[in-house]
Amino acid sequence: MTSTPAPRIRPRRLRETPALRRLASETRLDPAELVLPMFVREGASAPLPIASMPGVVQHTLDSLPAAIDAAASVGLGGVMLFGVPEQRDARGSGATDPEGILNVATRVAVEASAGRLVVQTDLCLDEFTDHGHCGVLDGRGRVDNDATLERYTAMALEQSRAGSQLLGLSGMMDGQVAAVREALDDGGHQDVVLMAYSAKYASAFYGPFRDAVESTLEGDRRSYQLDPGNRREGLREAMLDIEEGADIVMVKPAGSYLDVLADVAAASDVPVWAYQVSGEYAMIEAAAAHGWIDRKRAVIESVRGIRRAGADAVLTYWAVELADWIRKGD
Ligand code: PBG
Repeated sequence: MTSTPAPRIRPRRLRETPALRRLASETRLDPAELVLPMFVREGASAPLPIASMPGVVQHTLDSLPAAIDAAASVGLGGVMLFGVPEQRDARGSGATDPEGILNVATRVAVEASAGRLVVQTDLCLDEFTDHGHCGVLDGRGRVDNDATLERYTAMALEQSRAGSQLLGLSGMMDGQVAAVREALDDGGHQDVVLMAYSAKYASAFYGPFRDAVESTLEGDRRSYQLDPGNRREGLREAMLDIEEGADIVMVKPAGSYLDVLADVAAASDVPVWAYQVSGEYAMIEAAAAHGWIDRKRAVIESVRGIRRAGADAVLTYWAVELADWIRKGD
């Protein structure tokens, strides 16, 4: 009887000590590649907690500067602003009003950031429409693609005038990148960066976000956001956005779409971002609150997984806390 031969190849060698593991790590996290999504509510007198997103608040214009300062001081790459208006109407007029909450908040954030991070804005109508859809509706109640593009270009100009340096096109209308790029170039805003939410899936994981923006949506967004079963189509959307002039493309949600993210990262010649959305945040927070999961390890692992799959930067509600951990070497 022969004894089992000793393995000659031993991958465990590189896992033996903390120092070796650190040296062999393929994916590191850096605060500079984290972006914090932030909500700013019109007419609020104090920051309001969001029940389904423990630890996240709707800011007021007064509480925003200190939060921007905190984000800058841990070295975040940027913040992405979302506005929660008091009044909504069918066209989403607040989105193109220079005194609308998102545009005012942008001016406040740009001043507070003093160039230390990139102030970014969500370019979509859903927070501003009374029906809660990402575009304007036609006579039959369907989201009208081309009429919505006109609203987006007007919105892009207002956000750029307010000082936004990067517009996050999240509405999923066909041709939105080309339309917004042309309007900005014609309007003298050639330097404003366009980040396209290229592969944005019609996901259940946006649930807590809709609380955060007090969404009035009835029904769903399946006629414009992608079907969760479609991988090839996610790549196609990203390639189209790059052709239309997107400076950055994004996959969203992140955790359940890592295959799409990896496909896009392999094919893209522009940076690829991913959005770890509200439901992904809420799930880990809820499990951790029950003591069912190690919160810190789960947070780090979830974001590392997204980076490993190919994201160059990640939007995450944990950005500030995570950046703090990274800086302390945790
Ligand atoms: C649309 C938008 C949504 C999110 C970001 N931008 C909501 C939606 O499409 O329903 C979701 C983000 C999250 O869930 O964290 N303006």
